[in-house]
Amino acid sequence: MHARNIEKPFILTIYGASGDLAYLKLFSSIYAIAEQKRFPKDYHIVGFGRTSLSKKEFRARFEKGVRDNLGYAPREKVLQSLLRHVSYFHGEYNNLESFRQYKSFRNELCASKPHTRIEYFSVPPALFGDIVKNLAATKKSKKEDIRLIMEKPFGRDKASAQQLFHFVSQYFSEDQFYLLDHYLGKSSVQSILNMRHTNRILSNIMRGEEIANIQITAFETTGVENRIDYFEETGIVRDFIQSHLLQIFALVTMNIPNHHEADSLQREKMAMLEAADCMCDGANVVLGQYKSYRKQKKVKRGSKTETFAAVRLLIDKQDWHGVPIYIRTGKKLKKKSTYVVIEFKKFPFQSDKETPNRIIIEFFPFPKITLQMINFQEGIDTYQHLNASASIACDIEGCLPEHADLILDAINKQKLHFLSFGEIMASWDVVDEIADNIEQGHISVTPYADHSNGPAKQHMLTNKDGFEWVELPR
Ligand SMILES: NC(=O)c1ccc[n+]([C@@H]2O[C@H](COP(=O)([O-])OP(=O)(O)OC[C@H]3O[C@@H](n4cnc5c(N)ncnc54)[C@H](OP(=O)(O)O)[C@@H]3O)[C@@H](O)[C@H]2O)c1
Repeated sequence: MHARNIEKPFILTIYGASGDLAYLKLFSSIYAIAEQKRFPKDYHIVGFGRTSLSKKEFRARFEKGVRDNLGYAPREKVLQSLLRHVSYFHGEYNNLESFRQYKSFRNELCASKPHTRIEYFSVPPALFGDIVKNLAATKKSKKEDIRLIMEKPFGRDKASAQQLFHFVSQYFSEDQFYLLDHYLGKSSVQSILNMRHTNRILSNIMRGEEIANIQITAFETTGVENRIDYFEETGIVRDFIQSHLLQIFALVTMNIPNHHEADSLQREKMAMLEAADCMCDGANVVLGQYKSYRKQKKVKRGSKTETFAAVRLLIDKQDWHGVPIYIRTGKKLKKKSTYVVIEFKKFPFQSDKETPNRIIIEFFPFPKITLQMINFQEGIDTYQHLNASASIACDIEGCLPEHADLILDAINKQKLHFLSFGEIMASWDVVDEIADNIEQGHISVTPYADHSNGPAKQHMLTNKDGFEWVELPR
C-alpha cells in the first residue's frame, strides 16, 4: 500500500478549475488521496482559469466541492490541512503572457526544490491546443518533469484525434501524456485485468474457441441533463462506446501480456480494438432516442442524436471466428446497471433447454463476479441453476474513487490505466464507421419510452445469431 505514497514534491495545476468536472470529481478525489496520507510534505494544488477568484474564494469552492461530492463527511483536520496547499491563478488559456506570469507564480510557490508538474486539462477539448502551446513556450528545459492529464473525448472522429495528437506531439512526447478514461480508474473494471492476470483458470476459458458470445451492457436511468450542447454534437456512440465500452471489450478479449505494465497492456488492447470488425449498417446497429429528449431546452428541432445504441461486432482473428460481441448502452432507461456477460459454448449434444455456462462481471450497482453453471436433478427431472458469486468491490481501507486512483497513478508515473494514442485511433476506426452511417441516414433512430428497456429492435442483433440479451434481476 505504501508503494503508492508520493515521495517527490509536486504541483498539480487544474485548468478550468471553476468548471463541473473539477467541482464534481476532482476536489473530492484530491481530498481522498490526502486522507490516505499519500501526499508528500511539499505539494501544491493550483486552480487556473479565466474566472476571477481570490485564493480564499477558490479554497471555499474547493471545500464545498469536497463536502458535496465525497459521499461521506470529510475529516476536518485533513481537509483544513489540504486547503492550506490550495491556491488559484487567474489567467487566460490563449494568452502567452498569462502563462509567463503563471510561471513566476509557480516558481515562487516551488522555490525550495524542483517539483514534478502535473497539468490537468479540465477544460473543453477546444482549449487543449492553446494550453499545450503555452505550456511548451514556458517550459524551463526539455528535461523538466511535466505530465499532462487529458480527459476524453480525444477528438470527435479519427481525423480530429489524429490532428490533436500530431499537434500536441510537436511540443511533448507521448510518454508525458496521461490520456484519461475514468472507467479505467474503477477498481471493478481494473479487476477484469487483475483477475485474468492472476487466475490461469479464467484465462484458459476466456478464449474465442470456448466463448459463444459476449454482451456488454451499460444502462442509465438519467437522461442528458445539463450537457445538452456537448451531447447534441456527440451522441451516445461517440460518448460511451468509443471510450468506456470498447475499453471493456478489449480488456475482456485481449491476450494476457506477461508483463503487468502499460506498454504491454496497451499493445494487447490495441490488437483487439484493431481487430474489431463492425459491419456497421442497420442490420448490426440499433439506435434509439428517449421520447422526452427533444422536449429539452437546447435540443435542436427534429434532432436525430442517439441516446441509445446497440452494436454487433465480430473479431477478425481466427480464434474468435464467428463469436459475436454485443454492446449496448442507453440513457433514461428503466434501471441503471453496467455488466458484462460471457456466454460459453455448449456441448454439441446439449439441448436448447439447457442454459449455457456464463461468467457475469457486474460493475454497477454491485461490483461482483458470478459463475453460472447448471446441474440436472434426475429424480425430479429438473435443471438446477448454480450461481457462485463474490464481490469484487474495493471497499477496504486504501481503496480510492476512480479519479483519485488515476491522479495518484499519474503523479507516481504509472500509466497502466491510461490510454495510448494507438488505442484511441483504433477505437475511432470502429466508431467512425457507425457515425458515418448515422450521418448518411443509413441507420434510423427509433424513439423509445422514457424509463423503458430501450427499443425492442435491439433483440434483432442477438436473435439473428440464436442468442438473447441476458437481463440481470435488480
Ligand atoms: N463534467 C463531467 O462530468 C465530465 C465527464 C467526463 C469528461 N469530462 C471532460 O472533462 C473536461 C472538463 O469538463 P467540464 O464539464 O468541467 O467542462 P466545463 O465546465 O464546460 O468547463 C470547464 C471550465 O473551462 C472554462 N471554459 C469553458 N468553456 C470555455 C471557453 N469556451 N473558452 C474558454 N474557457 C472555457 C471555464 O473556466 P473559466 O471560465 O474559469 O476559465 C469552465 O469553468 C472536458 O474535456 C469534458 O469533456 C467531463
